[in-house]
Amino acid sequence: MEVVICDDDREVGHVAAAQIAQVVDDRGPSVVLGVATGSSPMSTYAALAELVDAGRLDLSHAQAFALDEYVGLPKGHPQSYHSFIQRHVVEPLHLNPHRVHVPDGTASDLERACIDYELAMAAAGGVDVQILGVGSNGHIGFNEPTSSLSSRTRLKTLTRRTREDNQRFFPTLDAVPTHCLTQGLGTILDARSVVLVASGEHKADAVAAIVEGPVTARRPGSVLQFHRFATIVVDEAAASKLELADYYRQVSSAKPLVPTSTS
Ligand code: GLP
Repeated sequence: MEVVICDDDREVGHVAAAQIAQVVDDRGPSVVLGVATGSSPMSTYAALAELVDAGRLDLSHAQAFALDEYVGLPKGHPQSYHSFIQRHVVEPLHLNPHRVHVPDGTASDLERACIDYELAMAAAGGVDVQILGVGSNGHIGFNEPTSSLSSRTRLKTLTRRTREDNQRFFPTLDAVPTHCLTQGLGTILDARSVVLVASGEHKADAVAAIVEGPVTARRPGSVLQFHRFATIVVDEAAASKLELADYYRQVSSAKPLVPTSTS
């Protein structure tokens, strides 16, 4: 696991985008991206959009798979992850919408939709680089505490804390969906590389737990300690509870940022 501590969220976005652009360079135009929703990756998408607009990155042939989706929200609902990915990823990064996949939270057979999603990911050859945020309780995707560390895409019940965290996007708590479809922790671990971004003091506990705590389903993001090519990019506030922060700074200043370095 490599931990990169940045001055602020803007720098988090630039460091994460540089790492993703490197993967695109290595894999070629048909790269497969794993894309996340939430506030955390917004600076990364903004930095990627700058690269695209400057003609330094071409994602027009890329495929993308979203991590998760609410169950029961119509795809066109402004808070569906389908809409989020369209607004914040497909349009600014000029992806081909036909090559972008989001779990179908409106399917009549949700179990089948999860199996189909896993099959589509496999048919695409797997994810080359997975972008992740982290929930305040340590979840990644929507893998809530006690998720199986080897889980695959499936239906999950959201915790009250996650629904409260996401209430800011809905008029009331009751309007926040109670269920979701999410890639499993095993699915996420299958990505060839992972870049997790986090900013702000409210993420400091979760970041410390997943980076330096024990690997435990109680803090699902801690499973990334098993990933050989996982990079955690955080701002100073999100890094504020990391005991080994000085060591991570020393590592970053001594060598280039490549996902293979300190794993
Ligand atoms: C949701 C998403 C996660 C995201 C998390 C944190 O639960 N399913 O993928 O990481 O929110 O969101 P934010 O970045 O807005 O704090």
